[in-house]
Amino acid sequence: MKVGFVQFDPFFGEKEKNLATVENLLKGIDAELIVLPELFNTGYTFLNKAELTDLSEPATGSSYDFILKLARQYKCAFAYGFAEKDNDILYDSMALVSPDGLVGVYRKIHLFFEEKKFFQPGDTGFHVFEYKNIKLGMLICFDWIYPEAMRTLAVKGAQIILHPANLVTPYCPDAMITRALENRVFIILANRCGEEKRNGKTNKFIGQSEVVSPQGEILVRVEQQECIKIVDIDPALALDKKFNEYNDLLVDRREDLYFK
Ligand code: ACM
Repeated sequence: MKVGFVQFDPFFGEKEKNLATVENLLKGIDAELIVLPELFNTGYTFLNKAELTDLSEPATGSSYDFILKLARQYKCAFAYGFAEKDNDILYDSMALVSPDGLVGVYRKIHLFFEEKKFFQPGDTGFHVFEYKNIKLGMLICFDWIYPEAMRTLAVKGAQIILHPANLVTPYCPDAMITRALENRVFIILANRCGEEKRNGKTNKFIGQSEVVSPQGEILVRVEQQECIKIVDIDPALALDKKFNEYNDLLVDRREDLYFK
């Protein structure tokens, strides 16, 4: 299965421009599943709730329409982060869209730093969605630091974790090696790059988007450049949870002894 990510530097508040950048980066792609960054269409550094309200949209809003068109054009599924407005509640969300339409939505559960001032924590829980008979799990950025999040998706059968991000601290790309290894899943980390400066606030994003295998191998990792990367993976490898002939990483868990 050909999977990958788009890494780029969105302009804050310039949805049309950001959609056009993505469309350009995707030109002519041959892939089945592509992940875009968190808040890919709006940018990240919101100064107040009014700005966020303005830039947010329903899960099937205009950015969804745009992505669905690309999904049909390239016969490819896309996962992407966006600011979601649902009955005036604002979530840091992601959607999975196939050529047939909306497959699923995930709302970021573990909000980071000032996101807590503007967004409501997600209420969707951790669910697995199917595309082409492959089970996919969704997490957004800071969710990575809670091992329970990805573990829940792995226990539910996820083979590939779709992970849009706007990372500003350096730890996640290396930590994903362990997350992939301990859960025996593929991880597609789609981070943004560049810097956002707004009214004295600066966010510098680390880039380093990557695809990691269930054996913890970095199949591709980039630096700070705007790019699209695609790798060919066998998602069936994520069905084998054996570390060796004695250790099955999921079966051997001792749920009777954790959190007691
Ligand atoms: C983050 O969760 N955007 C760091």
